[in-house]
Amino acid sequence: METTSPTATQTRSQQLMALEDQYGAHNYHPLPVVLNRGEGVHLWDVEGKHYYDFLSAYSAVNQGHCHPRIIGAMTEQAQKLTLTSRAFFNDQLGAAEKQLCELFNYDKALLMNSGAEAVETALKLARKWGYQEKGIAPNMARIIVAEHNFHGRTTGIISFSTDPDSTGGFGPYMPGYQVVPYDDLAALEEAVQDPHVCAFLVEPIQGEAGVMVPSEGYLAKAHAICKAHKVLFIADEIQTGLGRTGALLATCYEGVHADILVLGKALSGGMLPVSAVLARDEIMLTIQPGQHGSTFGGNPLACAVMRAALDVLLDEKLIENARAMGEVFRERMRRVQAKRPEVVELVRGKGLLNAVVIKPHADGRTAWDVCVTLMERGVLAKPTHGDIIRFAPPLVINEEQLHEACDIIEQTIMEF
Ligand SMILES: Cc1ncc(COP(=O)(O)O)c(C=O)c1O
Repeated sequence: METTSPTATQTRSQQLMALEDQYGAHNYHPLPVVLNRGEGVHLWDVEGKHYYDFLSAYSAVNQGHCHPRIIGAMTEQAQKLTLTSRAFFNDQLGAAEKQLCELFNYDKALLMNSGAEAVETALKLARKWGYQEKGIAPNMARIIVAEHNFHGRTTGIISFSTDPDSTGGFGPYMPGYQVVPYDDLAALEEAVQDPHVCAFLVEPIQGEAGVMVPSEGYLAKAHAICKAHKVLFIADEIQTGLGRTGALLATCYEGVHADILVLGKALSGGMLPVSAVLARDEIMLTIQPGQHGSTFGGNPLACAVMRAALDVLLDEKLIENARAMGEVFRERMRRVQAKRPEVVELVRGKGLLNAVVIKPHADGRTAWDVCVTLMERGVLAKPTHGDIIRFAPPLVINEEQLHEACDIIEQTIMEF
């Protein structure tokens, strides 16, 4: 993108992109579209062009853009009280924690803001539990993670990333982690033999890695291995949770109840950063006053929004819809794959978290070029790792809208 000052000949979009390019850090590489309105599955750019959203802000907008019920809860609470800090009680937090604990079947919830903060919270809880409950010698606790993981961007979390873009130039890295291949039970079984291991942190489907779905039975068996070795199973459901994969949690498919559950993104329906960690008392109560916190964590505005976002998810049967629409989507994409196997290498996913793997064209065009054409035709999706396109619309999408978007995707792939 050029770093020129806005000129009269530029479109509004070009002006706004140039502005960001000049004054903003270059830590993202967005598709060239400038959005200013959203409603349900729909987005509009500043020139008034309409798009179907097939990214949902990386699964944070499961309930659809600007859901009126969530907006209602947000504006009502915003006019009363937004932030008190945890120095005092507020009248929203307890009810929000109760709703979380009852829905996901845990004793206690701890609210934070971003996903990365919630993951950090889970790691701290696991270490504390390791020392207090498992009797690990001080500062010796180890946590097992999976290769190609994505859990956020803090210096602690990137210490166990295997993605050179995430880690390069940001060392030194925090010790105390061991990486095992994803979907590899033998490697996990071997790693948990170390008595210093307190936890295994895993994504039930690796979203950022390109929607990597593990073999059936992996999560249940990994959970059993952890249990047998007194190792906590931490499920990072920040992206896979809250209906995205067609179940309340992706771990539900295998009947796994994680020792520590990490949620974020759609917990607020895309309104503001709200994340949460859930655990039983034995784990959560290892942290005492003054040992962990966040100024904004559990603020009344976040609590009111979260409660409405969870209600919408259940009342509007978005989980069931995600499961049904996911089947339709994959069926359509598999038909496209059958017609153009030289373009589409693979279709995979669960519910409405899906990926289509594109074979690079001989002339050098890649999944990025597919996404640019999709954008021009009114479907917004983002490529990852060069050859993968993630398709993850808001869970409110109906069959007609899905088919319309699939027609555009099909036409684009047929012409690629
Ligand atoms: C599985 C998973 N964990 C953690 C995160 C980090 O969340 P946040 O960007 O809100 O810090 C993400 C974000 O994509 C994620 O997909």
